[in-house]
Order: sequence, then structure tokens, then C-alpha cells
Amino acid sequence: MTKIITVDGPSGSGKGTVSRMIADTLSFNYLDSGALYRLLTIAASRRKIDTHDVSGLSMLAEHMDIRFITSADGQFKAVLEEEDVTAEMRTEDTGVRASKIAAYNDVRGALLKRQRSFARGEGLVADGRDMGTVVFPEADLKIYLTASIDERANRRYKELIEKGEDVSLRALAEQVRARDERDMNREVSPLVAAEDAIELDSSLMSAKEVLETVLNYIDFKGLA
Ligand code: DC
Repeated sequence: MTKIITVDGPSGSGKGTVSRMIADTLSFNYLDSGALYRLLTIAASRRKIDTHDVSGLSMLAEHMDIRFITSADGQFKAVLEEEDVTAEMRTEDTGVRASKIAAYNDVRGALLKRQRSFARGEGLVADGRDMGTVVFPEADLKIYLTASIDERANRRYKELIEKGEDVSLRALAEQVRARDERDMNREVSPLVAAEDAIELDSSLMSAKEVLETVLNYIDFKGLA
């Protein structure tokens, strides 16, 4: 049986970085479920499918041609129909649009099978909003990673500035707040900690400290 570790949390909580580090350390598969919503957003805009066209989006979610690869230098890359769309996938604008289409029940259902197909081999680390609650409710270890809005906006700000995006910290904090609001209050699969999740606040922790804490839980549960 594939061992499953889920890491859920709001945007900017550090779940992507930490999940990738756990997957690397344990040589487990990695699922960035947010990337699927982001790629669907990009695929829909390429095909001129309206963001309110739920059946068009759902159909696309099931059939879009996507691949994730890790390049020789360890970079995670997303490929849509043979085009490297990693940079476009990571923009704040794509994240905001992804959060909107993620509110549709049918779209979420259409992505379910794809997400579950990542559970193969010895283990999987899956990060997102509903990994521990909906997609992998039987996971062996569930982490709910959070951080204050200010800290998350700060982290995003540094990341985007480094990438050369022109953003203001204040506007970003407002976007983070609005995205939380949408992801936490939607009717289907809202962002919420699973009852059996371990909650970690990373506001005052480095990624390495979070990694060490999670690895201790992994050891404790005998998953390594
Ligand atoms: O984790 P992220 O920022 O890449 O995710 C982008 C958006 O996708 C997020 O705001 C909400 C949606 N999402 C979701 O609804 N469920 C998931 N499991 C992952 C992401």
C-alpha cells in the first residue's frame, strides 16, 4: 500500500516547499494539487473556455494534456500540451483565477481521479486545500500548515519580486486575505483542517524547521 502524507493549508503557508522537501527526503511521489487547478485555468484560457462554463471546464479537467517533470537541476516544471507553462502557472493572477474555478463542484470532481492517480509506488506527499479531507481521507499522516496573513503576504512578496513581478505588499496582503476567504468559505471542499490533522503554525519557523518537525511525526508514525 502506498503511504500517503497530506499537507493542506492556505496560500503562502509554505506547504509546497515543505511537501517537496519531504517527498525528496523520502523519495516519495509528489502531488501539487494547486498546480492542477492552475493548469486548468491556463488550458481554459488557451481554448477560450469561459471561467463560468462549468461543463466545459470539467470536460477539460478530465482530458487536458499535462505533465509534471523535475528538471536536471531539481526544478519542478509543468507542461501543458508540450509547452512549458511553469512561469505562467506561478503568477498571482493565475492563482486567483484558479481559486475561482476551484469553487465548482463538478470541476473538483473531474480532477479527483487525476489527483488519486498520483498515489502509486512507496509513498506520496500531496499538498493542497482538501488533500486530507476529500482526496485522501485515509492518509497515514495529515498536516495542516498555516501562518499569519502578514507573514504569508511577505513570503509571496519576496518570491514574486525575485521573479521580477511588479507587486505591492499591501495589494498582495489583500489578495491573500480574499483568496483565504474564497477557499475557506466555498460550499464544496472548503479549506479546513481535517479532524485528525496535526496543525502547525509556520509564522515563526523556517522551512527547515517545519521539515524537521514533520519528519519527526513521520518517524513517529513509522512511515519513513
Ligand atoms: O496551492 P495553490 O496556491 O497553487 O492553489 C491555487 C488555487 O487552487 C487555490 O487558491 C485554491 C485552489 N485549490 C483547491 O481548491 N484545492 C486544492 N487541493 C488545491 C488548490
